[in-house]
Amino acid sequence: MTEAAASPLRAVLVGCGHITGLWFDALDTIDRIAVVGLVDLDPQRARDVAAARAPAAAAFDDLATALDALHPDLVFDCTVPEAHAAVSGLALSRGCHVVTEKPLAATPEAAVELVRTAGTAGGIHAVIQNRRHSEGMRRVGSALAGGAVGPLTDVHVDFFMAPHFTGFRTGMRHVLLLDMAVHTFDQARKLIGGDPVSAFCREWNPAGSWYAADAAALAMFEFDNGVMLTYRGSWCAEGPPDAWDGRWRLVGRNGTLFWDGVATVTGERVGTRNGFWADRQPVPQPPPMPAPDGHAAVLLDALDAIATGRPPETESADNLRSLAMVFAAIDASEQGRWVDVRPYYRP
Ligand SMILES: NC(=O)c1ccc[n+]([C@@H]2O[C@H](COP(=O)([O-])OP(=O)(O)OC[C@H]3O[C@@H](n4cnc5c(N)ncnc54)[C@H](O)[C@@H]3O)[C@@H](O)[C@H]2O)c1
Repeated sequence: MTEAAASPLRAVLVGCGHITGLWFDALDTIDRIAVVGLVDLDPQRARDVAAARAPAAAAFDDLATALDALHPDLVFDCTVPEAHAAVSGLALSRGCHVVTEKPLAATPEAAVELVRTAGTAGGIHAVIQNRRHSEGMRRVGSALAGGAVGPLTDVHVDFFMAPHFTGFRTGMRHVLLLDMAVHTFDQARKLIGGDPVSAFCREWNPAGSWYAADAAALAMFEFDNGVMLTYRGSWCAEGPPDAWDGRWRLVGRNGTLFWDGVATVTGERVGTRNGFWADRQPVPQPPPMPAPDGHAAVLLDALDAIATGRPPETESADNLRSLAMVFAAIDASEQGRWVDVRPYYRP
């Protein structure tokens, strides 16, 4: 191995808010990345994160200045959704690899523009869709691939919880769909194995909501392989919460799988058919499948993509299909009709 190949990639992390703790927990397990710079509009936040997690990193209040000073290989965009277009766009146009927090961008136009910029820049552009790397996702995927319930026909996800966030989410429009449901839609795309075709949705803000708008949604999607997806979610549903990965019912031709959104996957499939009802047999529990989860999994995938030249699993051009489901659902809710998802990812 050459000295250059052995050297860690030098990274600048932009946006030193709540999510940076998870990033550094993941980065602490990966020795091929060195964070050399931290940027936040509030320079004290950058200094605080440097002191707590990256003492060798320099603190800045502006990405352009950090790029000029440090010439990093990689930029991590951990800013608020509205800032991703400018921050990731600048880093890509300066030749850096970019790994960005979800959502890729806050508007359809900004998302398409970022994907175009990434397509002409030299670096990778990967989106942190950490929830497609949960152990439960691996177990459901393995049960489906093993034919536990036959080919999927429809998938139903519930996501009810009551987090009392402070910060950008309380004033954000489409907060549930854009900041959270994009995870579920991305997970559903991975499990369903097709592309979204059409969307129907109703967003609303439940009485007593502590969000400015759109904290709840009901949405339906049709995929090009005929699978239907329904989503029911709320970020202001007090009472027993679902898991952050949601609660899933996956119906196949021969049975149904349940995933609690953590690690438990159960199900039943048709045994002997004897008239009106079928005899049902339990689906064997998929085995434990420990592996790097979450942010670490996305970062390791990005590193491998950089090393080998293959696209990252969550590259922005592909991730646009997950975000398209969000934008189509938003427009479907506003227009009160089914909306074609495809123009949002094939502009
Ligand atoms: N993948 C996940 O599981 C997950 C979980 C939580 C948050 N997130 C995402 O992470 C991102 C940040 O969320 P958060 O909760 O940390 O928000 P936050 O408000 O706590 O932190 C965002 C930080 O970005 C800074 N910032 C904003 N614009 C900037 C700019 N142009 N240049 C430099 N700094 C800028 C702000 O000053 C703030 O310190 C969001 O996109 C959010 O959706 C992802």
